[in-house]
Amino acid sequence: MAERALHASNTLLQALTEAQLEFIGGSDAHLLFDKLLTVLLELTESEYGFIGEVLRDAQGTPSLRSHALTHELRDLQTLFGRVLTTGEPLVANEPNPHAGGLPAGHPPLNALLGLPLKSGDELVGLVGIANRPGGYGPELIEFLQPFVATCCSIILGRRGREQQKHTEELLRQREEELQRHRDHLEELVQSRTESLLHTTVALEERQAQLLHSERMASLGQLVAGIAHEINNPLGYITSNLATLTQYLSVFTGLLKLHRELADGLGPELQGPRAELLERIRSLEQQEDLDYILGDVNELLSDSREGAHRVADIVQSLKAFVREDSKQPELVDVNKELATTLKVVWNQLKYRCEVKCDYAQVPPILGRPAQLNQVFTHLLLNAVQAIPERGVIHVTTLHEGDEVLVRISDTGHGMTPEVLSKIFSPFFTTKPPGKGAGLGLSISEGIITSHKGRIEVQSQFGQGSTFTVRLPVAKDL
Ligand SMILES: Nc1ncnc2c1ncn2[C@@H]1O[C@H](COP(=O)(O)OP(=O)(O)OP(=O)(O)O)[C@@H](O)[C@H]1O
Ligand SMILES: [Mg+2]
Repeated sequence: MAERALHASNTLLQALTEAQLEFIGGSDAHLLFDKLLTVLLELTESEYGFIGEVLRDAQGTPSLRSHALTHELRDLQTLFGRVLTTGEPLVANEPNPHAGGLPAGHPPLNALLGLPLKSGDELVGLVGIANRPGGYGPELIEFLQPFVATCCSIILGRRGREQQKHTEELLRQREEELQRHRDHLEELVQSRTESLLHTTVALEERQAQLLHSERMASLGQLVAGIAHEINNPLGYITSNLATLTQYLSVFTGLLKLHRELADGLGPELQGPRAELLERIRSLEQQEDLDYILGDVNELLSDSREGAHRVADIVQSLKAFVREDSKQPELVDVNKELATTLKVVWNQLKYRCEVKCDYAQVPPILGRPAQLNQVFTHLLLNAVQAIPERGVIHVTTLHEGDEVLVRISDTGHGMTPEVLSKIFSPFFTTKPPGKGAGLGLSISEGIITSHKGRIEVQSQFGQGSTFTVRLPVAKDL
């Protein structure tokens, strides 16, 4: 007997030690409970059994979750209710007390033992076994104490593990969420920075445009004033020249008649009259009257031509600085180019030959004074890029539904680095005081507002070509 008891005790302890080691090694709790239940049934010579865990819902209502079960044993499960209320081991060695009997297929139950698994006062699980020949007694309950304790600690350990897993999962989710927040924040910062940058650039451009239009406005007033002042005297110079030309033809006609008269007078002329005639003849010779008569018409025609040119320039100046109407108007690009060329001619003529190649182009819808500004900027940039002497080629073209204005120069050209920055406000490679770096940024703004665009090609050391593309006026 003693030997058997010792053997049983050893078997139990070995099984429990193995189970604990396996649990520590990370084995699945269900497998362990299955093994433990098998050992338990063997040791107690029981027929059926289960090991379950007490779960509680949010309201604290308990339920039993089986970890190992030999059979769907309804009665063993009902043991749970009883053990739960008493918290004590329960032994029922009488035959099944249920009045209604067991359901069909349910094995008969002769003896039952229910053992609570407790951690302090908390009931964490239940072990139930049934049908030991001869029933269950207190010495068996005593013998099973280590078993009960081990099951209890495995359940608690498993809960701890699950809790840890749950906490880890929660932590991972939090970290993911945090990362998402961080990413979102970064995106937000980036998009804010970008929009700030855009605003800054737009503000700079606006400032540049304001500065420029202020300058242009005062320059425009000045030029318009001067043009007006020149126009007045020019008016009477032109008209007087016309009158003078008429008068002169009278004088020359008269002079010819006088000469004929003098030539007709012979040596019979004596005294003071002959002397007067002589004086007239010598004066004619001295002043080379023939030459004067020949030259005077040419001089007058040159003067008329000169006055005409001044009038032309004044006209161009007025056209150049005229106030733009509020509404865009139909613009002949060729005409505006010619006007601009006249105005800037003085700055071009010493340094370059200007070749113009105007094609027949349809009108575009725009503001002529603004377009003149663009052409001026491009022509001045071109001549400023020419070190000594060179050629500026001005071409217009009609291509598809666009009018093209191309201004090429044989100047120093640009490096790709310079080329990438030329439309930025205040970018200049010219010495301080020479360039404000505004011409191209303003021109781009104007052309964009005309729904057009500016293209540039440049070869360092060879020259540059700026092409302005403007849409042809549609509603014609
Ligand atoms: N035709 C060209 N050939 C070579 N470089 C050019 C040409 N046009 C423009 N650039 C370069 O682009 C820069 C910017 O031109 P932009 O007209 O905007 O300013 P700027 O001429 O320097 O000064 P501003 O026009 O305000 O007097 C110039 O400083 C020059 O380096
Ligand atoms: Mg410029």
